[in-house]
Parts: sequence; structure tokens; C-alpha cells
Amino acid sequence: MDSILRLGKVSKTYSRKTNGHEQKIYAARRVSFELQTQHIMALVGESGSGKSTIAKLITGVEHADSGVIEFEGKTLSAWRRGHLAEYRRNVQMVFQDPYAALNPLNTVRYTISRPLVNYRKLHGESLHNEIQRLLEVVHLTPVNEFIDKLPFELSGGQLQRVVTARAVASNPKLIVADEPVSMLDVSIRAEILRLIEELRSKQGVTFLYITHDLISARMLADEIVVLYRGTVVETGNARAVAKNPLHPYTQLLLQSIPNPWATEEQPMALGILDRTSDDGGCVFRARCPYAMEVCHQGVPELTNAESDHLVACFLHHDATTQMAVQ
Ligand SMILES: Nc1ncnc2c1ncn2[C@@H]1O[C@H](COP(=O)(O)OP(=O)(O)O)[C@@H](O)[C@H]1O
Ligand code: SF4
Ligand SMILES: [Mg+2]
Repeated sequence: MDSILRLGKVSKTYSRKTNGHEQKIYAARRVSFELQTQHIMALVGESGSGKSTIAKLITGVEHADSGVIEFEGKTLSAWRRGHLAEYRRNVQMVFQDPYAALNPLNTVRYTISRPLVNYRKLHGESLHNEIQRLLEVVHLTPVNEFIDKLPFELSGGQLQRVVTARAVASNPKLIVADEPVSMLDVSIRAEILRLIEELRSKQGVTFLYITHDLISARMLADEIVVLYRGTVVETGNARAVAKNPLHPYTQLLLQSIPNPWATEEQPMALGILDRTSDDGGCVFRARCPYAMEVCHQGVPELTNAESDHLVACFLHHDATTQMAVQ
């Protein structure tokens, strides 16, 4: 199987000033995962776990402090040197808030025409035909009812379809969808998730589906990556992770889902997130019901627990051999 995207030990810190003191925020810590072509991988974690940071690093909006991002076997730094437009064409993004993602003054036709003109140099009749085809692909039909509409005339679900059509317009190989349904009505979330599945199966697009909701991740994705405070704590086949979660955090995530289709991001009964400390030890130890002596001394490495199922937890492997190099 072909890998399309690989992250190797990618780290990103931000700094924030509180009461005159500079505080470091570890948004991504040595994040590694590999996404296979035409797969859907879900990146799951509660608010503040670093999901959008990773999306921004992959799409090139932000630069990593260290580590490597490879798309189709070529590093992002190499893509940046002279091939950034091609990279942008191939790696598109769908945002959480479709209202903010669209210019209120632009019609659907104009919005979708931009990538078709810029990246594919279409014009005239071929441009018009492609806009029509894309609206059909995202099920905004009959096309004539939507093509000349402005954003305010459309519902949230319809706007997210326009955003998706715009993302697909450049014929991208990878779409990073950052919580694409969390701001939409519960009733239309499943339709947008179905559209993602359809774009993967019919158009061959690979997806990184970012969500705080493990249930939709299990339903949609082939693989799941669980993120806690910028650290990958568990990853593997979606069914295996959801059916047999190995990391105490993933277990808590699954237990604390009151309503997977809720409109608001659920505050989980997991205590307060401390995003600033990095004083060694397991990232989850302050909240872990199973924390042991060793969990305060070293960082557990992400290691195979079963085939295609990795976990970073001393409960599942030998602590002496599996500490990550800091
Ligand atoms: N530009 C920034 N400046 C400072 N801190 C940031 C910035 N962007 C994100 N952060 C912080 O990084 C952490 C991860 O944020 P984010 O990636 O948005 O998480 P998520 O998408 O999972 O909610 C949070 O603590 C957030 O406050
Ligand atoms: S390594 Fe220790 S603290 Fe971390 S999740 Fe496992 S048992 Fe809990
Ligand atoms: Mg986010």
C-alpha cells in the first residue's frame, strides 16, 4: 500500500505571555503517523489537544519547529522550494466554520471558479461545465438553484458542501478536514460525513478527518490517531482502537461520550488540561487512574501492542526499553 503523507516526530510550540511571564505551549510533540493513499484517517482529541495545529503544519500555514512532513515521499521543505503552488493544489483544507470560510460577497459560482481558474486554467464553457459537475458531486442539485446564490441564502450544511466543492475543485490528492461537521446541525452531520466517504471512494481523495468525536471517527475512518496535549497516545485500525482502546485516555474518551452528535463540543469529565508543562514523564499521568512510579520518570514510546495498533503507555510495554528519547 502507498503512503501519501508521513509525519515524523513533528513538534510545534507556541509562546504565550501570562502576567508578564513567557509560557511555552506544546501544541504538537514529536507527532508521527502515516496516512495511506485513499484512506480516511481520523485525528481525534479534545479541544486544545493540537489538532488544528497539526492541520496547519500539514497544509503549510505554519512551520514545524522540528521533525519532518513528507507528502508523496518529498519533504514539505522541498515542496516549499519552488513547488508550493503544486503542493497547495494537492493538499486542500475544509474548515470547521463554513460561514467564516466563504466570502459573503461571492456567489457559489465565483467561489468554485477560483481554484478552477488558478490551478486548472479553465475558462468559458469548460469552466462552467466543471462548476456544474462539482455542484453535482457535492449534491447541491438542481445545480441552477444553487449556482448563483450568495452564502447568506444557504444553510450551514449547503455552505459546507460549497466549501467541499471548492476544496475538491483543484483535484487534490489529500483533504484535511478540520472538524467539518462540528458546527453543523445534528441532522445534517451524517450527510456531510457520507459525502466525505463518497469523495474518497468515487474521486479517490485521501482524507485526514479531524474530530473530537471518537464515534464518528470509528464510523468513517480506516485508522484513528488519538492525540492528548499534542502527543499521539494511541493509533491503529479504527475498529481495533474503538473496540479495544488500550490507552487510559482513549478509554476515558469512549466512556465520556454522552451524545456523539451533540452540537457543542462536550466538556469531558477529565479534569483540567495543562498544556504548558513538559517536565518529563507520561503526558497523561496527572489524570491517569493507573499512573505508576515509572510514569513520572520517563515518556512511554508509541509501540506496537497488537498488529496495526500502537499505544504509548507503560501498562502495555516494558518501561525500561520503551522510553522515548527526549
Ligand atoms: N497561534 C497560537 N498562539 C498561541 N497558542 C496557540 C496558537 N495556536 C494554538 N495555540 C495553542 O496550542 C494548543 C493547541 O491548539 P489547537 O491546535 O487549536 O487545538 P485543537 O484544534 O485540538 O483544539 C492550545 O493550547 C492553543 O491555545
Ligand atoms: S504510561 Fe502510566 S500515566 Fe501514562 S497512560 Fe500509561 S499508566 Fe497512565
Ligand atoms: Mg481545532
